Amino acid sequence: MKSFFIKTYGCQMNERDSERMAGFLLDQGFRPAASEAEADLILVNTCSIREKPEQKVYSTLGRLSQLKQARPGTILAVTGCVAQQEGGRLLERVPGLDLAIGTHALHRLPELLKRVSEGRHLAETGWLKPDDPGLFEIPSPRPQGGVTAFVTIMQGCDNYCAYCVVPYVRGRERSRPAEEVLAEVESLAAGGVKEVTLLGQNVNTYGPSNGAGIGFPELLRRVAEVPGLERVRFTTSHPKDLSDRLIEVMAEHPKVMEHIHLPVQAGSDRVLRAMNRGYTREHYLERVRALRRAMPEAGLTTDLIVGFPGEREADFKETLALMGEAEYDESYSFRFSTRPLTAAGRMEGQLPEETKLERLYRLQALQAEITERKHQAQVGSVHEVLVEGRSKTDAGRETGRSRTNRPVHVPAGDQERRGRIIPVRITRALKHSLVGEVLGEE
Ligand code: SAH
Ligand code: SF4
Ligand code: F3S
Repeated sequence: MKSFFIKTYGCQMNERDSERMAGFLLDQGFRPAASEAEADLILVNTCSIREKPEQKVYSTLGRLSQLKQARPGTILAVTGCVAQQEGGRLLERVPGLDLAIGTHALHRLPELLKRVSEGRHLAETGWLKPDDPGLFEIPSPRPQGGVTAFVTIMQGCDNYCAYCVVPYVRGRERSRPAEEVLAEVESLAAGGVKEVTLLGQNVNTYGPSNGAGIGFPELLRRVAEVPGLERVRFTTSHPKDLSDRLIEVMAEHPKVMEHIHLPVQAGSDRVLRAMNRGYTREHYLERVRALRRAMPEAGLTTDLIVGFPGEREADFKETLALMGEAEYDESYSFRFSTRPLTAAGRMEGQLPEETKLERLYRLQALQAEITERKHQAQVGSVHEVLVEGRSKTDAGRETGRSRTNRPVHVPAGDQERRGRIIPVRITRALKHSLVGEVLGEE
């Protein structure tokens, strides 16, 4: 029986795509290999969002192509966003590469592998028609044993933020039919999954304009009512499309978690306009106030870019000030990185790396202060925690997440609490997580 190994880079959508590919391969009779070196088929599922992840892909491929020299029968394939972006160029650049499979061809993996076994080398980067069911095709369901799961509800993006490669590597925005989403969630819940995260580049535009019968707030409500499921999360929410109705559903439905990832990217209107984000600083802060009015304790996280072309010190100070006002629980910040095909790469006013790096440090230092203060304020409070399992770094701990999406560790008990929702009193704050004691246990 042939074996496979998948290495995944990039976002949660890519992680979910890797699971889908693994499922297609299991359906074909493949089995998972313990390591790359033992696998008959190696898939590298790639990300192109910034230069760094793309470079990592090339260094991994260099290493794997050497591995293949020692084991010539191994099939080496690149999938995902870099495969979509580079296509046939990858086959020329990487010795021993057999396949490049773009983001709209993942479901054709079995067929493409068959062609490789007939001696072909292929790059498949075509786009599917909007109503092609292949875009959301999933393998036959099988129990995963996980507590949490990702469910893709959309593909692609139509927003064309000036810095972003996603519209070029993932294609037009499409919504997956609600019945399919609900059927997948029902099957996951029946298999023991307690929490699902609904995935899309901008879940707020899920709906009739791009292929679904209902809008996102209604989908969220229906998913939250699936029997056996305890928690629903979603990501990502674009600030320009965050509706009052969504806030209402989040606040009203006990199974929808009180956390939102709301990428702001920048705090200055000038930069937001140049980024083509479609909102102002004031609109963004008004949405944050609306969220906190409805859910005072809600978790709030964000993404930021520093050093966008033309960003002045004064613009950057506005980003710092916004960070202080929004009081994020956590933020993910990046230096602007030029991407192929994007408008920002061609803009004037590109900044030196030192300036970007210096701004990044200042931003991250401020976030660290805010996170520490907010974490300290949690000491003594009680959170409902869904336990996901033993901690990866410390077997004496179990780890889970609060409703607000903070990681929480508790001492491991006599009985495993995996999959249970337990009340935890927070006793200590760490840099990126909280530590607590389980209440109501002897
Ligand atoms: N769809 C999501 C974001 C997906 S990309 C949204 O709209 O929020 C994840 C994050 O990567 C973005 O939020 C942005 O902060 C960052 N990013 C994207 N392109 C980038 C680039 N060219 N340089 C630096 N960071 C970038
Ligand atoms: Fe990229 Fe903007 Fe689309 Fe997000 S909304 S994926 S940042 S183009
Ligand atoms: Fe990367 Fe593609 Fe996701 S570029 S961030 S893997 S959509």
